[in-house]
Amino acid sequence: MSELLRIAMPKGRIVKKAAELFQEAGLGLPDDIDDSRKYIIPIPEIGIELIMAKPVDVPTFVEYGVTDLGIVGKDVLVEENRNVYELLDLGIARCRMSVIGLPDWKPTLHPRVATKYPNVASKYFRERGQQVEVIKLNGSIELAPLIGLADRIVDMVETGTTLRENGLVEMETMFHITSRLIANRVSFRMKNDKIQSLCDRLQSVVRVKV
Ligand code: PRP
Repeated sequence: MSELLRIAMPKGRIVKKAAELFQEAGLGLPDDIDDSRKYIIPIPEIGIELIMAKPVDVPTFVEYGVTDLGIVGKDVLVEENRNVYELLDLGIARCRMSVIGLPDWKPTLHPRVATKYPNVASKYFRERGQQVEVIKLNGSIELAPLIGLADRIVDMVETGTTLRENGLVEMETMFHITSRLIANRVSFRMKNDKIQSLCDRLQSVVRVKV
């Protein structure tokens, strides 16, 4: 009878923290959730079905309505700029988006910035009236200044380990990041009771930190 709420869950750094939050809210997820290779995980006991997705694809799944809800970092949400509702700040996977460079960085005539977040980076520098060429990379962004591809990068900093181990420094913090619960606009109307009740349960265990 009751249809399961479909939630896009990002594989990788968020899933374990999200599973802990769900657990605290009385919504137990399978123990092996962070190393399972299964993509579709129905959990009828708690009325949900998880769709395990690449983080960057979560807002797309939610916008197109193939999942009712999704969990996604604010970084991906801002970069993808999809037509979805942002329902709740889950307060997990805290990190920040920063401009990073070598300690002896000096302004250049044709500055180049490498990043996994070209929209975020372009907007940031445009708003500051700085002309930069943004180069999109798909990972290991910290390599770019070390091998002369770009003079700065825009990337996520969590513990700062990657920066330190590669001799880079944080030059500006752009914005703080946490994971968010997002909803498809139609699902939010059609399944409002279920979504609201899930939201309330999660909200009750979210830790507010500054
Ligand atoms: C992310 C990010 C940084 C690193 C920051 O990379 O792009 O490189 O984590 O974390 P830290 O401050 O705790 O060191 P990710 O691990 O997602 O791999 P990637 O470089 O392949 O994107």
